[in-house]
Amino acid sequence: MAETIGDKHGLTQAQLDALARQTSPLIAQINNDRKAGKTPYRDLPYKTGTVAQVKNLAAEVEKGCQTLVVLGIGGSALGNIALQTALNPFMYNHDQKQRKGPRLFVFDNVDPAQFASFLAWVEDKLDTTIFNVISKSGRTAETASQLMIVSQLLLDKLGPQGLRDRVVATTDASKGTLRKIATEANLRCLEVPDGVGGRFSVLSAVSIFSAAMCGIDIDSLLAGAREMDERVGCEDFYKNPAALIAAINYHFYNRGKKNSVIMPYSDALKDMADWYRQLWAESLGKRLDLAGREVWIGPTPIKAIGTTDQHSQVQLYREGPNDKLFTFLEVNKHVAAMEIGPAPQCAAELGYLAGKDMGTLLNNEKKGTEYALLHDERPCLTVLFDQVNANTVGQFIYLFEVATSLAGALFNIDPYDQPAVELGKEATFALMGQEGDYKMNYTYEQFAADIRAKTAIDKDFLV
Ligand code: PA5
Repeated sequence: MAETIGDKHGLTQAQLDALARQTSPLIAQINNDRKAGKTPYRDLPYKTGTVAQVKNLAAEVEKGCQTLVVLGIGGSALGNIALQTALNPFMYNHDQKQRKGPRLFVFDNVDPAQFASFLAWVEDKLDTTIFNVISKSGRTAETASQLMIVSQLLLDKLGPQGLRDRVVATTDASKGTLRKIATEANLRCLEVPDGVGGRFSVLSAVSIFSAAMCGIDIDSLLAGAREMDERVGCEDFYKNPAALIAAINYHFYNRGKKNSVIMPYSDALKDMADWYRQLWAESLGKRLDLAGREVWIGPTPIKAIGTTDQHSQVQLYREGPNDKLFTFLEVNKHVAAMEIGPAPQCAAELGYLAGKDMGTLLNNEKKGTEYALLHDERPCLTVLFDQVNANTVGQFIYLFEVATSLAGALFNIDPYDQPAVELGKEATFALMGQEGDYKMNYTYEQFAADIRAKTAIDKDFLV
């Protein structure tokens, strides 16, 4: 069970009480928003119809499927990756004995070298491969280009029926480019739920289809989210873990801790940190507050891995600027025990490790790092997993989603939009030759010329 411990180092009881007074009405407010249907992500763990649809489709396509390929980016990819890393063994793709489903590959970039290498490998395995293309809009250049390459390959090798059999589209129920493509090619489809932004969609068909295909217990995942829902709806600040996380982040942000380091001490949780980075950054990084005033606000989420980054970042974290809040993810009982062997005779100084469990070492390294950071008055918070399993991961996801809603309310911004992401997307369309009007009296062609002028290399600075 994921449980949060609000570490009181650096927070007085009076400050906590003040945070409680400020946050409690906001808990009530987001509960009301939910009742008013403004936050449909809150209801995803209860969508039994979606679960049935996902399981039926998985049952339909999993026979003979050796490889599942997810094509998507941002909110359409990060949840898939995070669930797979958290809940399947490290060697899942490489060792048939360790996997209960197809190998999983998630492509969330458009690196031609990477994609070419993968296609060269998969080309003679197409009849045992399923491609799950995920895009709410279908206009996202990265996902669209991947799909266009894969579609051509499937048409060339297997014909139109092959394309139909091998591609599953996850997209908007009725509108958008991918829906059009799926209808025309008669593809099997799953739905991106209405009103749920990509970064809040992990508990929908967007990510639970690949999870179900790969043997993850999605019932338990959603049950965990529902259990957490009971806790994060609680209007008593001190009993509500999402409120504590949001308020502690808000408190320290206002005291110069503009960066939020998330540091899992579990490799299984390392990609949860990427999911969290998107959730926190796109939700909380905002120019305008709810009254339309310019605030340019938002903590910068930073991923660090324990213990790996102790040997890379901790020097800076302790002696560099004191501008960070640290959120550790700690696991009580690791999935495997791993006893450390005896010390070589010539190295008696390693005797203190002999016979100990590697998980004990990992957890003590976390404590050691936390102590070292507290020594230099760097504030720390711990999210404690009893174990990493589908239930606790479901709890964790729901916990941080609601913490994000509450942090948005504390910062007085809209955590559900991402207006700043659009300009770069539109600029790419222009540079790639999109035709027509970008805005009134301003074509994509003119836009592309302006971008090129602004980003041209200044020869005076070319060395
Ligand atoms: O969180 C988000 O909304 C974004 O990260 C989107 O998921 C991402 O841009 C991909 O968009 P789409 O699903 O339309 O391809």
